[in-house]
Amino acid sequence: MSDTLGKAIKLTIFGESHGQAVGAVLEGLPPGLKVDMEYIEAELERRRPLKSLKSARREADLPEFVSGVRNGFTEGTPLTVLMRNSDVRREDYDSLQTLARPSHADLTAQAKYLGYQDASGGGHFSGRLTAPVVAAAAILKKALEDKGININTRVRKIAGSSEWPDETEISEALEKAAAEGDSLGGLIETEISGLKAGLGEPWADGLESELAAAVFAVPAVKGVEFGAGFALADMKGSEANDAFISYKNGRAETLTNNSGGINGGISNGMPVVMRTVLRPTPSIGKAQQTVDILTGEQKTLKISGRHDPCIAFRACAVIDAVCALVIADLFARRFGYLSLMPGADKDKNIVLIGMPSSGKTESGKVLARLLGRPLIDMDSVLESGFGITIAEYFEKYGEAAFRKEESRLAKSLAGTCGCVISTGGGIIKDPKNMEALAENGIIVWLKRPLELLAPSEKTPLSRTDEDMQTLFAERLHLYERCADITIDASGTAQKTAESIAELLR
Ligand SMILES: Cc1cc2nc3c(=O)[nH]c(=O)nc-3n(C[C@H](O)[C@H](O)[C@H](O)COP(=O)(O)O)c2cc1C
Repeated sequence: MSDTLGKAIKLTIFGESHGQAVGAVLEGLPPGLKVDMEYIEAELERRRPLKSLKSARREADLPEFVSGVRNGFTEGTPLTVLMRNSDVRREDYDSLQTLARPSHADLTAQAKYLGYQDASGGGHFSGRLTAPVVAAAAILKKALEDKGININTRVRKIAGSSEWPDETEISEALEKAAAEGDSLGGLIETEISGLKAGLGEPWADGLESELAAAVFAVPAVKGVEFGAGFALADMKGSEANDAFISYKNGRAETLTNNSGGINGGISNGMPVVMRTVLRPTPSIGKAQQTVDILTGEQKTLKISGRHDPCIAFRACAVIDAVCALVIADLFARRFGYLSLMPGADKDKNIVLIGMPSSGKTESGKVLARLLGRPLIDMDSVLESGFGITIAEYFEKYGEAAFRKEESRLAKSLAGTCGCVISTGGGIIKDPKNMEALAENGIIVWLKRPLELLAPSEKTPLSRTDEDMQTLFAERLHLYERCADITIDASGTAQKTAESIAELLR
C-alpha cells in the first residue's frame, strides 16, 4: 500500500481535491539543488487549463515549500510542497456523492475506503494532486537539464485532430467539446535526450518498467508504448532492428530508434521515446447511465461541475515530472544521490593507471565504495574470461596474445560510463588503449616511487627487482603522458582513494 514512487529518491503524494490542501514530499534528495521558482512556475503553467477555456476549474497552484528548502536550495532533508485548495465548490459535487461517475474512481474508491473517503471532486484521485508533483519534480527536471538530460513531452494528437496540432487547433477542439458537454482523449509523446548508455536496473526495475509504472500512476493514463511500440507487431525483424552505427562516449548510435532508446530495460544512449494515451476526461456534461454506490440502484447522472474537456495537453507537464523522478532515482541508485549535484560529472569513468603494485586494484575498490560506483578491475575481468590467471596465460600464449585481449577489453570499456576502472600496468603500452579509455574517462595515474613497488610472481613482467627497474624506466614517461590527474600513491589504498575522491568532488 503506497502513495510513493521511487526507491532512492522517493515522491509521496497526499491530500484531497476539495480538502484543505494537496501536496508532495520528496525524500532522498541531494543538498544544494537549486529551487528555481521561475522554472517551477513555468512547469505549473504548462499543467494549468488553457486560459481561453471558461469551463475549467482554475486554482492558483501556489507552491509553498514548507520543509527541505533553505535560501533557494534543497537542504537534502525531506522536502514538502503544499498547495492549499482555494477554488473549492463542494456543492458542484454534492449530488455526486453516491452516484459513481462512469470511468472515474468514485466506485473503486468506495470499494477500497468503505465510505470514509472524501469523494468530493474525486478526492485523493483527482488530477489536482498532480500539481504538487509537477512543482516538486521540477527541481529534479532542472537538475537533470543542467547535466544535459532533457525531458520534453508534447501533444501528438487529440481525438479528431491532426498529428502534432498547434495551440489554435487544440483550443478550438477543446471549446467545441466543452460546448457539447463532452471530452476528448489524446496521445502525448515524450523524448528524453542526453542519457548515456547503462541506466536501468535489472528486470523489474528496468528503465521501461520504471517509466511505465510512474506514468501509469498519473490519473487518466491508459496506455504507454516505447519506440515503435505497438507498431512492432506489424514489422519484420529486418525492419524493426535498430542497426548500430557507433558506440562511444557512453552512447550507442543507431540508424533507427524503434527500440525507443532502451534495450533490455537499460538505456542505450539514443533518445528515450515514449508515447502515452490519456483517456477523455471522465466528467462530462452529457447524461450518463450509472449506479448509486450505496444502494446499487441504476440512475442517470448529469455532471454540472467545471472540468477540462481534454487531459492530454495538461498531462504533458505531469508526465515530464514523473519521468524526471524516474531518471533522477535511477541516477541516484547507480551513481549515488550526490551525482545529481551541480558540477558532478559522475557519468565519466575514472580510469586508474600505474605500475604493477602501485595499488590500482585496492585503491579502485575503496574509491568505488566511496563514490558508490561499480568497479571494473580489468585484470579480474580478463582472468574470468581466460579461466586461468594472467601469469598462466602469459606462460601458455605469450605477451602478444595477452595484449590483444587487453586491447579488446579496453575498447569495449569506451562505451561504459560511471565506473571506476582499474587497469593492468601495461595498458599504456598501446596508445589506442588509452584513446579508447579516455573517450569517456578521466585518467588517474597512481604514482608510486620505485622503492615502494613490490615485485611479485603474479605479475609476469615484474617478478624481480631488476624487472621492476627496467619497467619503471620504460614506462614512466608513458604514464605521465596519459594522465589527466596524477596522485601520490605512496600511502595506503584508503589514502590514495580518498585523495582521488577529494579531487574529483
Ligand atoms: C492534470 C489532470 C487533470 C484532470 N482533471 C480531471 C477533471 O477535471 N475531471 C475528471 O473527471 N477527471 C480529471 N482527471 C482524470 C481523473 O483524475 C482520472 O480519470 C480518475 O482519477 C480515474 O483514474 P484513471 O482514469 O487512471 O482510471 C484529470 C487527470 C489529470 C492528470
